[in-house]
Amino acid sequence: MKWTGLNELREKFLSFYVSKGHTRLPSAPLVPQDEASLLLINSGMAPLKKYFMGLAELPDGNHRATSCQKCIRTPDIENVGHTARHGTYFEMLGNFSFGDYFKEEATTWAWEFCTKVLELPVDRLYVSVFEDDDEAYEIWTKRRGVDPSHMVRMGREDNFWEIGSGPCGPCSEIYFDRGPDKGCGKPDCHVGCECDRFVEFWNLVFTQFNSDGEGHYTPLEHPNIDTGMGLERLACIMQGVDNLFEVDTVQNIMKHICAIAGVEYKKDPQKDISIRVVTDHIRSTTFMIGDGVVPQNEGRGYVLRRLLRRAARHGRLLGINEPFLYKVCETVIKENETAYPDLVQNKDYIIKVIKMEEERFAKTIDGGLAMVNATLDRLQAEGKDVFPGDEAFKLYDTYGFPIDLTREIAAERNVTVDEETFNACMKVQRETAREATRAALGDVAWTEDVLKGKEIHSTFVGYQTMETEATVEAILYSGELTDSVGEGDEATIILSQTPFYAESGGQVGDKGVITCGDTVFEVEDCKKTATGYFAHMGRVKHGVLSTGDTVKAEVNKDRRRAIMRNHSACHLLQSALQSVLGNHVHQAGSYVDDHTCRFDFSHFSAMTAEEIKLVERKVNEMILAAHNVTATEMPIEEARKLGAMALFGEKYGNIVRVVRMEDCSLEFCGGTHVDNTAKLGLFKILKESSVAAGIRRIEATTGWGVLDVLDQDEKLLSDASAAVKAGNHAELPERVTAMAAELKSREKALAAAEQKLASMKVNSLCSGAKEVGGFRVICANVDGTKPEALRTLCDTLRANHPDMIAILGTVCDGKGNVAVSCGADAVKAGVHAGKLVKAITAITGGGGGGRPDSAMGGVGDASKIPDAAAQMDSVILDMLKK
Ligand code: ALA
Repeated sequence: MKWTGLNELREKFLSFYVSKGHTRLPSAPLVPQDEASLLLINSGMAPLKKYFMGLAELPDGNHRATSCQKCIRTPDIENVGHTARHGTYFEMLGNFSFGDYFKEEATTWAWEFCTKVLELPVDRLYVSVFEDDDEAYEIWTKRRGVDPSHMVRMGREDNFWEIGSGPCGPCSEIYFDRGPDKGCGKPDCHVGCECDRFVEFWNLVFTQFNSDGEGHYTPLEHPNIDTGMGLERLACIMQGVDNLFEVDTVQNIMKHICAIAGVEYKKDPQKDISIRVVTDHIRSTTFMIGDGVVPQNEGRGYVLRRLLRRAARHGRLLGINEPFLYKVCETVIKENETAYPDLVQNKDYIIKVIKMEEERFAKTIDGGLAMVNATLDRLQAEGKDVFPGDEAFKLYDTYGFPIDLTREIAAERNVTVDEETFNACMKVQRETAREATRAALGDVAWTEDVLKGKEIHSTFVGYQTMETEATVEAILYSGELTDSVGEGDEATIILSQTPFYAESGGQVGDKGVITCGDTVFEVEDCKKTATGYFAHMGRVKHGVLSTGDTVKAEVNKDRRRAIMRNHSACHLLQSALQSVLGNHVHQAGSYVDDHTCRFDFSHFSAMTAEEIKLVERKVNEMILAAHNVTATEMPIEEARKLGAMALFGEKYGNIVRVVRMEDCSLEFCGGTHVDNTAKLGLFKILKESSVAAGIRRIEATTGWGVLDVLDQDEKLLSDASAAVKAGNHAELPERVTAMAAELKSREKALAAAEQKLASMKVNSLCSGAKEVGGFRVICANVDGTKPEALRTLCDTLRANHPDMIAILGTVCDGKGNVAVSCGADAVKAGVHAGKLVKAITAITGGGGGGRPDSAMGGVGDASKIPDAAAQMDSVILDMLKK
C-alpha cells in the first residue's frame, strides 16, 4: 500500500472509472438543484436521482457515470469534535449505472480498484452482503474469489441503503481490517463491531426500488448501481492514519487553527475537541457559502449559521477572542483549489460572509455565554439539572444562540435543556409571525375559504391578451358569496377566464376594468388564492354586476406594459450583475410594478459607482441590441438542461415556463414580458443599497420611468438655476461655486465687522461704569445679544480691565440671560461672578452660576432684571468686606 494524498486518490478513482467507459461528472453544488425537500446534498447519488428513475438521460447519452461529490450530513453535529469519527463535510467517490451494468461489473471493478489500483492486501479486505442476497454472495465468493471467511451477511439496518425518499436497494459493503492492535480485543470482534478495527469504506448499492420515504417501495424499471466511497476514509487507509483529522489536506487546516490559537493538537483532550470542531465546521461552511448558502434563521441558511456559531464558540474555548474563521477558510480553499477552482473564484465573497457572521455573533456571544453560565451556576447551586426552555429561547432570540449550542454547553455541565418549553416558545413566535402574514393576505385567504368545495374553473389568458370576454363565476361580498353587487360595493370577482395577472413571482397584480353594458367594476388588484383562483378585487363604479353576466375583462394596458418592461429589465439586470460582479450573484427576491424594477441579490459589498455604471450600461446595451424575448413551457428537466436559472430553494412543478432573451438571459419565470428588449426604451438605476447581510438591492426603472427621472432632474436643475439666476443649466456649477466663494468672503467681512462692533460696545459700556468700593461696575442691558456674543463681550472686558465688574443682562429670542465678568483685581479683592449670578437669579428666578471671574445664568422673569441690578451694588460691597 502506497501513501497517497487525498487529491491524488480522487483523481485515481475518477480516471479508473473513466477507463471503464464512465462519464466523469463534476460535483453538483451542495444546494440541491432539483428538489426542494432535501436541504443539502448528502450522497453522490442525490443529484442524480432523475437518471436512476429514468426521468432524464445524461447529456452525452451514456448510462454510466462517475463523480466525486461534495456532501454534508448533519444529523450528529453535536458529536463532531467529541469523537474523531464524525464530520459534517466529506466527499463521496462513486460510480453509477443507470439501467446499464449491475452486480457483476460493479463488483469486478470495485475489486480491481481495491486490489490492483490501490493495492490493498486481499487478506485485509472483508465484504458484507444483505442477508437474503445469495446472488451477491455467490458473485463475491465464486467469481471475485473472496474467501468465505471474509464474507458477512447483514440485516436490513446495515445492508439496505436508503436515505429519505428516492432510489434505494440492498447493498454490499467493503471493509478494511486495520489490524488487531486497533481493535477492542474482544474474542468476538469481527466486521460490524463498534470498535475501530474494521472500517467500512465502500458501499455498493444495488438500486432496485424507489421509496416514497414512507415505507412504500416500487421496483424500478431497470436495476441500477450506486456506489459510494468516502474519500477521506479511503485516505485514512492509504495514509495509515486513524481518522479524518489526520488526513493530509485536513491536517493543514487544523495546523492553521492551532497556529492562530497558539495551541498544539493532542496535548489537551479538551482543546482537541474544539480543534476538531473548528476544523470540520470550517470545511463544511466554506463549501456551503461557495455554493450560495447565506446565514439565515431557517432552512439550509440555519444549518450554516449553526455550524459557524458553534465553530466560533469553540474558537473562544481555544482562547481566540476575535473573528478568525474567515482566515482559516483560506486554507480550506487552498487545499481544495485543484478540484474546486470555483472556490478560488468566490474566495473574497466567502471570506466576507464568514467574517460578517463572526462579527455579528461576536457582538452577542459574550452576553449569551454570561447568561448561560449564570443560569448553569444557579442550577448547580439549586441542585437542578434541567435548563429552563424559556431561557434557552431567550438565548436564541436575543443572543443568536442556536438551540444545539445551548444544549452542548449545558451538557458540558451535565445539564439537559427543557426543549419542550423551548419549542413551545418558538411556536408562539412563529404563530405571531404567521398571523401577521395572514393579516396581510386578508382577502385571498377569505376568498379561498368561501369558495371551498365549489366547482369553479378559471383560466389565465393574460400571456396572450390583455382583454377578453368572460362569465362572472362568483361574486364575494362582505365575507360571503352573493348574486349581485351594486354601485359603490367593494367585492371580489371570479371570472371563467381572465387576462389579469395575479400577483406572484415578485410581479404585482394587474389593475383594470370589468364591464358589462353600462356596468363598470374597477379592478384595483388581482391575487391568486392557494388553490389557484384569480381574485379580482375592487369596487363597482357604476351599475350592477351579477353572477352569470357575460363581461369584458380589460387590463389597464399602459400600466401592464410598464410592468412588463420592468420585469424584463429584472432578467437583464441579473445577467448584467453576474457578468460584472461574478457568478455568486443569485436572485434573493424581486418586486416589479409599473414604476420600479427592484432586484435583491447575493453579493457582499456595496457596489462601487463604476460597477453600478457598468451594469447599467450592459443592460442598456442588451436593450439597444433589440433581442427577441420568448416564453416556452417545457418539462423541468429540459429547462435545467438548457441551463435556465432558477431560484434557490423554489419548488417548481414538472412543467415550467422558461423566458429566454436570446443569448442574454434564460430564466424560469411565470411573469409577463415584452416581446423584444428594445421595448424597454432605456434602463436607469436609481439606487443601490443593503437589505440584509450579504444581500444587496438595486432599484431601477425603464421606459417612461426613465423619462420621469429625466423630467424631475430637469426641473430640479431649472429651479436651482432660477434660484441662483444662472442663465442656463451649464452655467449652474460655475454660478454656485462663485456664490459659495462670495458667501465665504462675506462671512469673513461680517465677522470682522461684528468684532469691531463688540469693541465699540465695550468702549461705550466702559464709559457708563460707576464706582463701587473702589472698582468700576457696569450694569447694563444689552438686549438682542446672543449668549455666545455675550460671553465674548465679557472676555474682552475682563482681559482689558482688571478693575472692572460687569453685569450684563439680555433678552434674546424671548429668553433672558445674565452674564457677569470680574477683572482679576476684583476677584482678588473677593468679588465672585458665580455668586453674583446666583444673587441675581435668586431675584429673577431661573438659575446659573460659574467661576469667580466669569459666570452666566438663565433668567426666569426678565422684567425683574432691573430690580436685581439695582441691588447688586450692595452685594458687591458685602463681598468686598469679607
Ligand atoms: N448512496 C450510497 C451511500 O451514500 C452509495 O452510501
